[in-house]
Amino acid sequence: MFGEHKGASRREALRVLGLAAPAALLALAGPKAMDALGVGAARAATPAVRMDALTAIKTRRSVRRYTSQPLDDATLTEVLRCGMQAPSACNEQPWQFVVVRDKTLLAKAGDINPYAKFAKNAPVAVLVCGDMRLDRCQGYWVQDCSNCAMSMLLAAHALGLGAVWTGIYPLADRVEGFRKLCGLPAEVTPLALLVLGHMEQTPKPEDRFKAERIHHDRW
Ligand SMILES: Cc1cc2nc3c(=O)[nH]c(=O)nc-3n(C[C@H](O)[C@H](O)[C@H](O)COP(=O)(O)O)c2cc1C
Repeated sequence: MFGEHKGASRREALRVLGLAAPAALLALAGPKAMDALGVGAARAATPAVRMDALTAIKTRRSVRRYTSQPLDDATLTEVLRCGMQAPSACNEQPWQFVVVRDKTLLAKAGDINPYAKFAKNAPVAVLVCGDMRLDRCQGYWVQDCSNCAMSMLLAAHALGLGAVWTGIYPLADRVEGFRKLCGLPAEVTPLALLVLGHMEQTPKPEDRFKAERIHHDRW
């Protein structure tokens, strides 16, 4: 996939991954690594919108209204791929995902979490779960799976999609509700339902920087 414009493609790939592109990084992230990350494939399949990592972080907002346009598998796979790049304790990667496209299930999500009623209008949602069988590193699965979910939200935004985190864990009734809804094994705990789609609304970025929250050396 890098056959045609090798150098440019690799630089683009690193840019999409939010990395600077000095020679050393280019050498590190050779065509094989970029192929493995599926960057070229995603570029072919995903919307034209692309932004650098800092812009994506600073401009991301929750989007709860979506057009009726379906979200294709390649784009969704790219979002999931970015989620799975997240750091995790001992690199345990304890996540599992349920991709929900069934409209009945999406509507039922709003019965379990009243703040997820809009899910019925979305083309897809991803249930991000922690697999306790993979959580071998001192109970860090919540942080691991939260990192994963956050990476997915940022990836969705960078791809020009709208997305929002709807909360499940640690609320017992929601955990049980989604466990039943999607038939999860007992060892798998749902953390969040990420609702995704093509944006119908474009919320304005919000500057939340507060210098007074930063403490130096001692409080
Ligand atoms: C743990 C968590 C749970 C959330 N639960 C919901 C939810 O159930 N429904 C919803 O619409 N938004 C939910 N949100 C999204 C927040 O409301 C949103 O991130 C916050 O208001 C800041 O707005 P922004 O995402 O546009 O920056 C949740 C976010 C987090 C991190």
